Amino acid sequence: MVSRLVRLNVLLMLLALLGSWVFSGMCSVSYDRNAIIVNGQRRILVSGSIHYPRSTPEMWPDLIQKAKEGGVDVIQTYVFWNGHEPEQGKYYFEERYDLVKFIKIVHQAGLYVHLRVGPYACAEWNFGGFPVWLKYVPGISFRTDNEPFKSAMQKFTTKIVNMMKAERLYESQGGPIILSQIENEYGPIEKRLGEPGKSYSDWAAKMALDLGTGVPWVMCKQDDAPDPVINTCNGFYCDYFSPNKAYKPKIWTEAWTAWFTEFGGPIPYRPVEDLAFGVAKFIQNGGSFINYYMYHGGTNFGRTAGGPFIATSYDYDAPLDEFGLLRQPKWGHLKDLHRAIKLCEPALVSGDPTVTSLGNFQEAHVFSSKSGVCAAFLANYNQHSFATVTFGNRHYNLPPWSISILPDCKNTVYNTARVGAQSALMKMTPADKGFSWQSYNDEPSSYEDSTFTVVGLLEQINTTRDVSDYLWYMTDVKIDPSEGFLRSGQWPWLRVSSAGPALHVFVNGQLAGTVYGSLKSQKITFNKAVNLRAGVNKISLLSIAVGLPNIGPHFETWNTGVLGPVSLSGLNEGKRDLAWQKWSYKVGLKGEALNLHSLSGSSSVEWVEGSLVTQRQPLTWFKTTFNAPAGNEPLALDMNTMGKGQMWINGQSLGRYWPGYKSSGTCSACNYAGYFNENKCLSNCGEASQRWYHVPRSWLHPTGNLLVVFEEWGGDPNAISLVKRELASVCADINEWQPQLVNYKMQASGEVDRPLRPKAHLRCAPGQKITSIKFASFGTPVGVCGSFSEGSCRAHHSYDAFEKYCIGKESCSVPVTPEIFGGDPCPGVMKKLSVEALCS
Ligand code: GAL
Repeated sequence: MVSRLVRLNVLLMLLALLGSWVFSGMCSVSYDRNAIIVNGQRRILVSGSIHYPRSTPEMWPDLIQKAKEGGVDVIQTYVFWNGHEPEQGKYYFEERYDLVKFIKIVHQAGLYVHLRVGPYACAEWNFGGFPVWLKYVPGISFRTDNEPFKSAMQKFTTKIVNMMKAERLYESQGGPIILSQIENEYGPIEKRLGEPGKSYSDWAAKMALDLGTGVPWVMCKQDDAPDPVINTCNGFYCDYFSPNKAYKPKIWTEAWTAWFTEFGGPIPYRPVEDLAFGVAKFIQNGGSFINYYMYHGGTNFGRTAGGPFIATSYDYDAPLDEFGLLRQPKWGHLKDLHRAIKLCEPALVSGDPTVTSLGNFQEAHVFSSKSGVCAAFLANYNQHSFATVTFGNRHYNLPPWSISILPDCKNTVYNTARVGAQSALMKMTPADKGFSWQSYNDEPSSYEDSTFTVVGLLEQINTTRDVSDYLWYMTDVKIDPSEGFLRSGQWPWLRVSSAGPALHVFVNGQLAGTVYGSLKSQKITFNKAVNLRAGVNKISLLSIAVGLPNIGPHFETWNTGVLGPVSLSGLNEGKRDLAWQKWSYKVGLKGEALNLHSLSGSSSVEWVEGSLVTQRQPLTWFKTTFNAPAGNEPLALDMNTMGKGQMWINGQSLGRYWPGYKSSGTCSACNYAGYFNENKCLSNCGEASQRWYHVPRSWLHPTGNLLVVFEEWGGDPNAISLVKRELASVCADINEWQPQLVNYKMQASGEVDRPLRPKAHLRCAPGQKITSIKFASFGTPVGVCGSFSEGSCRAHHSYDAFEKYCIGKESCSVPVTPEIFGGDPCPGVMKKLSVEALCS
């Protein structure tokens, strides 16, 4: 018995060895337990998600360059099937969907690519990335053991892989793609579906492997991913994660930098101290690859947002903001983290860490190799208090919920809770003198322009095939002159139940009310007394989709639109069921049919101007022309006074806007320490979920740009303005003995044998200068960038050095040492420097 066990173990070990040999021998990218191996080099890789259609090709080089400067090695993206095959068999790879161009730009920058072919993406993207026509392939059922689905999926996946091969984009061909992904987070769905789920995921893995890309495939959240596919982790933390085989590396495919915004919700953010803590914790547990989801979130242009209720901004509180600017201190603090990790790389790839306890909530993770390299991570998991630990006969002070990184097992170069990078405050400054608008009223549809009539209520997406957000449902209600309510004035109640997500109800051409759901509950009911007259009354229901679902089991079967019941109560007969009478339908708005958003379409109708411009009327189109503002700062439209609708510039859709939907939720103060989740740190409560809408510079001509806005609710366009996003001020907030990477070399080489003072670095945007010092205090200042204030101790010459070295400069550095500020203001007390400088 024992010998059989031994034999089995030996066999398993041999298989494992064979496995790693096979995976490392076959292609130029392989892996083992502790590293991703690219061209023979064992690497710890930092990756960042940038989804190509969420920015413009003109933005790509800059975004990728900034990612590179931020210490990112790999760019990760999904492939967006519905963007590439909008109609079955008709492919599109231009403009924002020019996947090959995007990958080539990443390659030129010297970075790698992780290509998540999917083709299911999720990603808060319309229909999770599936084209809507796919739903209408006969006999189809998504993401399960279903032949029509598998054949469509295989066809598209093969097309993408062949395209990459033809362009020689795989690392095995000298290109940048080092990893691929098939499916996305299928594990939880598989559990629900049972056997068909399992055979589908096995099929998907095999199908992908058979494509012979020469680089490894991953499946995220797929514990049973078959060899050699690597199962990977997604989440706010992944330190606990282990792949399903000992010879696979630990890969974190989605380290969430915060969370997405929904219309009706506040804006989530994630303190960088916690994100850095999560990443350091993953690396100290032997992680080999970490991808920030998102590194640049960008914008859901057009009707690409998933849903319903996903906002147009997909900013994600990412290190690069929606507009492509550095989000500080997030970008800078992660850059410092990546440099610290890179200093440890030789030790990290050498084997598993040795973990020792340094206290109740403290641990050391030490990576050391026979060749003598050593790197240590000292962790304090206590959320509330500092810890002083002894490691290798030195003392280390660890802030709450933090990890210090010691690339030589001696000197701390980085602590996740000590932010050395500058913070930045951004502002939105007006870039125009206001627009002068013309208007055109869309009308509640009537029978005359209906396209067809049937008995009963139809599901919306089956009817529109998602060519428009809008579907009109129209019916007649005959009221007999003998109805009692005509005399009593007790109006009958119209009740309309809809699967959602939003609905405007018109009675005889007048808006009777609007109802809409939320991401949590999409079903809605309109229930209101309505003003009817004797004779024929026209009920017109405008049902509105706000992006198709992107997640959940068989989300392709979920309903949208008015499915009933629809009834009228308070009549002589009691309640009348309207659901089973004749309904006429029209897909889309009149203005959409006329292409009012385009240059040619907008000149096909008479617009009114001046004092005649429609005020606060639902279903109104507005248009104006404007010149591009000078400069190169990113631009946005401030839509704060508007209700709900869509907007276009020169015919290109900027997306849906909905500032009329104010965010509910609690935005209380948020401490970085302690486990993060998407509801922990929120801003913007009670305000519009999204006020500013990105206008890509490259969509503008120097003069005569056409801006068209379609407003559903009756918002006031006169306050719409074009704004520039600019850096307002920069801050540094540095502890007097804070470790800094720049000092490490000297300390590690033995050039100096004492801790060195850190420096405060301030840098405005290119072309800007520091114009004044708003605040400077060396001592015990309190507060955060933008609202610093003095503490009880303060050096009197705190401003002097900054006035002297910074004013008139784009950037400056000042050592955080008492002499610079006129001497130590409070000996024996731990001091810090807080400074805020204005840029313009
Ligand atoms: C993940 C999914 C991503 C994205 C994310 C939330 O579960 O894989 O595509 O939807 O959640 O932003």
